[in-house]
Amino acid sequence: MAKERIGIMGGTFNPVHLGHVQIAKYAMQGADLDRVLFLPDGTPPHKTGIVSATHRWRMVCVATCLDKGLVPSDIELNREGITYTIDSLHALHDQFPKADLFYIIGADTLMELHKWKNAEQVFPLCTFLIAPRVLSVSSREYLDEKKRLISLGASFENIDMPVMDVSSTALRESMTSGGVSPFFPPTLQEYCGALGLYGMPRRVPQAEEWFSRLFSDLTVKRFSHTLAVAYTARNLARNHHVDPLKAEIAALLHDCAKCMPLSEMQAVCRKHALTMDALTLASGNLLHSIAGSYLAASEYGVEDPDILRAISCHTTGKVGMTKLDMVVFLADKIEPTREEYPTLQKVRMLAPLSLERAMLASLEGTAAYVKSGSHPLHPQSMRTMEWLRTLPEARG
Ligand SMILES: [Fe+2]
Ligand SMILES: [Fe+2]
Repeated sequence: MAKERIGIMGGTFNPVHLGHVQIAKYAMQGADLDRVLFLPDGTPPHKTGIVSATHRWRMVCVATCLDKGLVPSDIELNREGITYTIDSLHALHDQFPKADLFYIIGADTLMELHKWKNAEQVFPLCTFLIAPRVLSVSSREYLDEKKRLISLGASFENIDMPVMDVSSTALRESMTSGGVSPFFPPTLQEYCGALGLYGMPRRVPQAEEWFSRLFSDLTVKRFSHTLAVAYTARNLARNHHVDPLKAEIAALLHDCAKCMPLSEMQAVCRKHALTMDALTLASGNLLHSIAGSYLAASEYGVEDPDILRAISCHTTGKVGMTKLDMVVFLADKIEPTREEYPTLQKVRMLAPLSLERAMLASLEGTAAYVKSGSHPLHPQSMRTMEWLRTLPEARG
């Protein structure tokens, strides 16, 4: 059996960005790697301006969760004191005794390798994959140093990819000055903005506590989806003169019950008489909105009835839905990481123009989908669709 080939991306990831993800993907393809591990380090004590290891870890989890083969690893995160690559490589060889390891570095790091702890002992432990940087890799100095390191036992392969003009430093600066970088995904823009990281004002007062709970209660993919919905809901709300903070909060909590076992959701809903509807009670896909609305109030401390209502009707819709309800419902359906489905592009196009038309298109799409399957459309969705058809705003 061929040996497994594992790439390693080390770094502070303060914050992780799409440049890191792209390098890992190019490395995976070019060097035929089976996976690439992302190893955020523990907080180096001498560096200021670094957000906590917890935040950097969650962001790495979110940034990698949609790409098969990209895997976060916390082996450096939990190590006491300064992190040395040689220790991580030994730990990874212990963990994967039959694998070949490929350590991914930028071309600028090659010039710094001689400063690494026990550099010569690192060389037999991995092959270095070099991502291009703005510096000239054909410069005399660079080539001489590379030659010298090879003579000491180092081995290098170049990653064939364009130079990416992005850095965590530039990203932090752009955030502090209120800018947006195309290399920072919406999910992480939401994460940092809600919490107020990197010098931004905190938008959601309870974000620290809520994110900690959501990250542990949801799968990483669900957590990432939640951030993407909140990002979309805020923008959509601004488009339609809806309170963006209410939309953001409802979106952040809309799936807070989604990863509960169905039996637990049913128990909560029965105990507090939240619904008697058998169809809803039988399906986690429907029931989590009602259980979630209850949890948002009881566990997350949300008192605003508008927000709780938006959470409770985000699966089926509701006759007389408010604009806030529609914003949350639609943001859930069109957030940027959603996998393609037949009416996605139509609903995405309509949502900024007319909430009512987008709602109708979305529900009609669901109706067509369930018609072809075994489950009927929920009567509440049917009634919502009929109600929407009576509205002048829903007519194209
Ligand atoms: Fe949901
Ligand atoms: Fe959702």
